[in-house]
Amino acid sequence: MSNLVLDSMKHILRLHDLCRIERQPQVMEIDHAKASEYFGRMYYKTFPRFKQIPLAIEKVCGELQDVQTQRRASRNFDHNNALRFEELSNIIYGSCGITQREDDNPFIAKRIIESGGALYPIELYIVARNVEKLEQGIYHYNTLDNTLEEMFLCDTDQILTNAVQHEDMSFFQDAGAGIILTAVPCRQASKYGLMAIPFMYKEAGAIGHAIALNAQLNMIGKCESGGFNADYLAKKLDLDTSEEITISLHAMGKTLQ
Ligand SMILES: Cc1cc2nc3c(=O)[nH]c(=O)nc-3n(C[C@H](O)[C@H](O)[C@H](O)COP(=O)(O)O)c2cc1C
Repeated sequence: MSNLVLDSMKHILRLHDLCRIERQPQVMEIDHAKASEYFGRMYYKTFPRFKQIPLAIEKVCGELQDVQTQRRASRNFDHNNALRFEELSNIIYGSCGITQREDDNPFIAKRIIESGGALYPIELYIVARNVEKLEQGIYHYNTLDNTLEEMFLCDTDQILTNAVQHEDMSFFQDAGAGIILTAVPCRQASKYGLMAIPFMYKEAGAIGHAIALNAQLNMIGKCESGGFNADYLAKKLDLDTSEEITISLHAMGKTLQ
């Protein structure tokens, strides 16, 4: 049985445990102030000791209806044409960025994409192959500070090649960058129990669509891979797969003219 299936089963068992804990307040008198503190806690993954690279957001204008109708999956990437850091920044911020913070507590924040309970289970990582101003390597998006955290500098040609399982997907080798979405289901299981599983996939889908629309707005090609190598990528990201699993992979790049 693949590690992914085993990991998913472990998640389900863990979620069952969390469901039992969650049921307790329903038979007790709930102190609503305390309950909202328990259910409403937002968790942020950060690597404070790693180099932080602020995103460079650039204003790009376009009509929403045009962007929606022109969006197409694109698989013809120009291997040697680098993505601009501003284009990558717009795509990351436009799919996962924070748009509103509470005045007295900047940790309580709302984002571009809606999330069940505002508990935000999805994390975003970049595999940078050919991006101006970014060395080849793996980066984590620090949502709170709107920065990329430099996790590992490494040969990412190899990673993008191995990340997909089928030869039809060899265009991944030409992508300027890959985006990996992961999920931390326990963030939502504390409130929603087993519904955390459909929620994390639904939210990754919404973020994937926001990536596609922002890529289109910035005239960047983008394609998702259903058949990606989840175990391989989890190892490359050094994930503790009892807590966090890889759930989608997207390639982006300048398209061949
Ligand atoms: C979850 C998901 C998985 C996908 N997997 C692949 C894939 O493995 N290979 C591929 O070439 N395209 C993949 N795609 C892109 C679809 O083939 C594409 O969206 C579909 O053909 C519709 O075309 P359009 O996006 O240009 O409208 C995937 C899309 C989604 C949403």
